[in-house]
Amino acid sequence: MAQKAAKAAKKVDPAKEYKNLLSPIQIKDVEIKNRIAMAPMNTVMSLDNRGYINEEILAYYAARAKGGCGLIVTECVLGTQLAAKFPFTSNLHCYDVSFAPGLAELAETIHAFGARTFVQMSIGFGRQGHAHDGSHPPAPSAIPYEVVPEHMAGRGFDRLLEKNPHLAEGALGHLPYEMTIDEIRAEQDEFAESCIYAVMAQFDGIELHAPHGYLEHQFLSPRSNRRTDLYGGSLENRMRFLVEVYFKVREAIGHDKVLGMRLSADEHMPGGNTHKEMLEVARVMGQLGVDYISLSDGSYEALDYFFPNKDGTMLAEAANFKKTVDVPVMVPSIHDPKNAERALASGKCDIVLYGRQMFADPEYGNKVADGHAGDIRRCKRCNECLMRAQMGFPVRCIVNPELGHEKYMPEYQRKPVKAQSVYKMRIPAKIPKHLRHFD
Ligand SMILES: Cc1cc2nc3c(=O)[nH]c(=O)nc-3n(C[C@H](O)[C@H](O)[C@H](O)COP(=O)(O)O)c2cc1C
Ligand code: SF4
Repeated sequence: MAQKAAKAAKKVDPAKEYKNLLSPIQIKDVEIKNRIAMAPMNTVMSLDNRGYINEEILAYYAARAKGGCGLIVTECVLGTQLAAKFPFTSNLHCYDVSFAPGLAELAETIHAFGARTFVQMSIGFGRQGHAHDGSHPPAPSAIPYEVVPEHMAGRGFDRLLEKNPHLAEGALGHLPYEMTIDEIRAEQDEFAESCIYAVMAQFDGIELHAPHGYLEHQFLSPRSNRRTDLYGGSLENRMRFLVEVYFKVREAIGHDKVLGMRLSADEHMPGGNTHKEMLEVARVMGQLGVDYISLSDGSYEALDYFFPNKDGTMLAEAANFKKTVDVPVMVPSIHDPKNAERALASGKCDIVLYGRQMFADPEYGNKVADGHAGDIRRCKRCNECLMRAQMGFPVRCIVNPELGHEKYMPEYQRKPVKAQSVYKMRIPAKIPKHLRHFD
């Protein structure tokens, strides 16, 4: 009896121990119940690059929403027909109305299991895209990317490439072609239209995908952008593509909707964007009205920054972003809940983004809230999930055999909803072109 009482007295109260991690946060009108957010991660579950939602995807997200995440940022969704032609392997798409019902079902499912959701929209992979039919991917300049061991800073990927040099061959980018100004503007317009479908699908917000050496990042970087027109040269010119995308999407979805942006804090490559330049990008985007900044780091040329092998590698950079913008800053790769709590308490970030850790244990949020944080199944940062995705196979996890099999588990299937909770269609401020009968 005395033993039991002593044990009960020792038990820490999660509401106190994880005060910050479990506290709510509001972004515009979106109330998020805690600071535990799932990071965007391509699952490669939409097979053959058809880009449609399926049962596997719905149940996978249901598990993470049920598991206690306050916010789920979806995997990256390709928002133009051209972008959807050049993924690395396979992604979700949203470039016409046929994709909207599936995406609406995804948003409804995540809501039904108690989380909020932002959709990550991409205007393209640029030179990091792959030419599956032999054609060249569109980019700011005709410069391919290279993944070579000497560009890795010695935290794992260099050793992987040294042991498997054939992987480096596979990681050499295809030669892209330089986009014309007309093409840039047509892509931006189509992308903004696609974002309207995402709003109609009832996502709580949109995240512009601009990190990791993808198309927006390529325009920002002097390493990949050698243009001599109004989109190249000074930082102001290199920022033009991103600023125009932001304005067009903002105009399309309206000012009341959450519109965030993911950025790499630093490119970490010779001749690439510096941290100082990225702070300037964030400052400008903050002034223009972006609703949050989601940080990441590096690119496919600097993979070890992109996929850190320990907690908190981006926190020092995050602190500088926090000083630069007045909106919430999200930071990935802090897997240990105690470290996450410390990071939030230090004021260096506002929301912790869980990537691979959410593959490893979808119940992370519930375990923290219920006082069972010690039972969290920890990600080993072995990158098996990533290697599978890079080879075109749906993600799986060495510590979580259920990843990818959630569709066979009844607890992740939705129940019929009450009539009152059926969503009323939100009529967007602007009707997408495909739905306009008279133009
Ligand atoms: C398989 C896989 C796919 C990913 N896909 C995306 C993506 O679609 N968009 C994105 O911005 N980041 C993507 N990421 C990066 C994660 O969001 C995250 O920043 C990274 O994994 C580091 O955080 P972690 O240590 O919590 O995993 C992906 C990561 C993995 C492992
Ligand atoms: S496969 Fe490895 S890196 Fe990926 S989530 Fe599982 S443990 Fe983490």
